[in-house]
Amino acid sequence: MALNLKGRSFLTLEDFTPGEIRYLLDLGHDLKAKRRAGVCDPALKGKHIVLLFEKTSTRTRCSFEVAATQEGAHVTYLDAGSSQMGKKESLEDSAKVLGRFFDGIEYRGFGQDIVEELAAHAGVPVFNGLTNEFHPTQILADFLTIREHFGKLEGIKLVYLGDARFNMGNSLMVGCAKMGMHFVGLGPQELAKQMDQELIKRVFAEARKNGGLIEITDDMGSLKGADMIYGDIWASMGEEDLIPKRAELLSPYRVTEDTLKATGNPDILYMHCLPSFHDFETKLAKEWKDKGVDIREVTDEVFRGPHSVVFDEAENRMHSIKAVLVATIGK
Ligand code: CP
Ligand code: NVA
Repeated sequence: MALNLKGRSFLTLEDFTPGEIRYLLDLGHDLKAKRRAGVCDPALKGKHIVLLFEKTSTRTRCSFEVAATQEGAHVTYLDAGSSQMGKKESLEDSAKVLGRFFDGIEYRGFGQDIVEELAAHAGVPVFNGLTNEFHPTQILADFLTIREHFGKLEGIKLVYLGDARFNMGNSLMVGCAKMGMHFVGLGPQELAKQMDQELIKRVFAEARKNGGLIEITDDMGSLKGADMIYGDIWASMGEEDLIPKRAELLSPYRVTEDTLKATGNPDILYMHCLPSFHDFETKLAKEWKDKGVDIREVTDEVFRGPHSVVFDEAENRMHSIKAVLVATIGK
C-alpha cells in the first residue's frame, strides 16, 4: 500500500517509521531529478506556508522558500521581532490563528515543546526547522546525500565528532537508529553525561529493532572503519557564551587530516550541517582567534578537501524539505 503522509507534522524523526523516512528520501530524490530535468508540475499551487524564525538561518529558510515557490506555494516569513507570538499572544492562540491562514507552519527556535504545542493547536502540519533538541529536516538531507554516495543507508558507519548532546547529535542518532546504521557520538564525557538519557534508551531500542548500532564514546579508536565523519559547530545558536569553554573541551576532537586517516578508509566522506568554522574568515572565528581561542571544529584542508561533501549536503536541504512539503500538504 502506498504511504500517505498528508496532514502529518514533521517534528522529529522519532514520529516516523523507517518506511516513511525512506518514502521521504525517495520523494526528495525524485523531486531533485525533476528539477534537474526542468520538469515543472507544481504540487503546492495555491498553498500558503508561514515560516517562523526565532533563530537565524541561511539554508533552512532559503530551502523552505525556494522549495515552496518552485512548487507554486506562497511563503510568509516572520522573524522573532515581527509577530505577537509569545509576547502578547500565547503559542496556543498564535497556532490557532496561523492555522486559519496557512496550510503549513515552519518553526525554528528554542524548545521542542514549542513546535509540539504549535502542532497540537494549529490544525495544519507544523515543520521543525530546528529546535534545541532536534533538526530533522537536516537529517533527511544528510541521508539523501549518503544514499547518493553509497546507494544505501543500512550498515553505514557515521562518526559524529563534537557536542553530541544537542540537536544534531540527537537527530543523527535517531535517524541512524531508524535506518539500521551505526552511529558513533565521539566527544568528551563531560558533554556525553548531559545527553537526554530517556532519548538514549528509546534510540537503543529502536536501533536493536532495525539492525542499527549506537555508541557514545570518547575513544578515538572508534573512528576505525567509519564510512563518514560528521561535524557541527561546538557552541550552537543561543550558547555563544560557552564558546571558550567548548573550544577547550572539544579541541581534541577537531577534524583534521589525521582524523580522516584514523578511520583507515581511503574513501572516507566528511559531512557537516553548516555553518562551519573552518577558517578565520568569519567575524566570530576572527574575534576569538584574536583572544587566543581557535574555535574551528574542522581544518580548512579537510573542509575544502576531496573527502568533503558539505555542499552536496547543503543543496539537498532544499530537495528534502520540498519532499516534506509535497508529502504533507501537496496535491
Ligand atoms: N544547516 C542549517 O540548518 O543551516 P541554517 O542554520 O543556515 O539554516
Ligand atoms: N547545532 C547547530 C546546528 C546549526 C544548523 C545549532 O543549533 O546552532
